[in-house]
Amino acid sequence: MNHPFHILSSAQFDRKFLDYLAVLTDTIRRFNKSKEGSIYLKGLLAHKRAMLYFTQPSTRTFLSFQSACHILGISTHEIRDSSTSSERKGESIEDSLRTFSSYVDIIIMRTSTPGLCDRIAEYLDHTERPVPIINAGSGPDEHPTQALLDIYTLSRNFVKEGGLDGKTITLVGDLKRGRTVRSLAALLTNYQDVKLRFVSPESFRISEDLRQYLVKKGLDFVETTDFSGSLENTDAVYMTRVQDEYDVAGESAKVDYSQYHLTKDHLGILKDSAIIMHPLPRRQEIDPAIDKDPRAKYWRQERNGMWTRVALLTMIFGVDSQIVLPEL
Ligand code: CP
Repeated sequence: MNHPFHILSSAQFDRKFLDYLAVLTDTIRRFNKSKEGSIYLKGLLAHKRAMLYFTQPSTRTFLSFQSACHILGISTHEIRDSSTSSERKGESIEDSLRTFSSYVDIIIMRTSTPGLCDRIAEYLDHTERPVPIINAGSGPDEHPTQALLDIYTLSRNFVKEGGLDGKTITLVGDLKRGRTVRSLAALLTNYQDVKLRFVSPESFRISEDLRQYLVKKGLDFVETTDFSGSLENTDAVYMTRVQDEYDVAGESAKVDYSQYHLTKDHLGILKDSAIIMHPLPRRQEIDPAIDKDPRAKYWRQERNGMWTRVALLTMIFGVDSQIVLPEL
């Protein structure tokens, strides 16, 4: 099993890694159910420190990474606004991040700049103190740890049906700028006979680089504007919000996004075994009245994020071997 140092992109993971991460996550969850298990976990990385550098808004990714660190005993520092760091005095982002690496053992970063995490990882790799960089969301391009928790949620949900292979997944919304869909679609190329339905307004279709990537990987996919029709016979529907923080000239306001909202009226179209997901936060894409439907999995998905991130941290620091795993 290859253990990652940096986590920068979904493309770095293969099926073996995804299966291992799921079993490790399950095992860690079981450990944490007992007081003895949670004390054991808290001792695993008590000698490590993490920097949470989140200069783009976040609720669940920030809190779940912070909680994941604390579950493993990792102490945390945070910057949530670059105007409170010496970047305000003109320090370059490279010098700022290099400074963090002087004090911590890992940097977890959320940024609005695509490609920044890769650039910083490359830069730190050539310094005396390279530390792992985790991309916790980088502009509209990638959100690899969200995709990992999404895969965990999907695969665990379909465990009785033999897993994720052969399933049809419908991804809905602002697919052009939604980084969670980009990262998840790339990860789904690791599964056999998975079919993707990309449902969006014409102006929010997936970007050409993702289209080319999926074609190269041989993934079976369609692109459509037909939301209701795409809900038939799907195994999972993955809703997303409009990403208007990336608008250049108010383009989101010109789109009728209401046609891409999941309402109670749609529930009859969905199979009883289908699941409803959303990376959250949501606006009106999912009627809150749907939250009580047993097929709604987004709150569980959010909590799975914390456990998946605990598992990832144990792998990055090589202590997953200290967690007794069942035979794979
Ligand atoms: N899913 C997700 O990234 O949520 P936050 O922006 O709240 O972290």
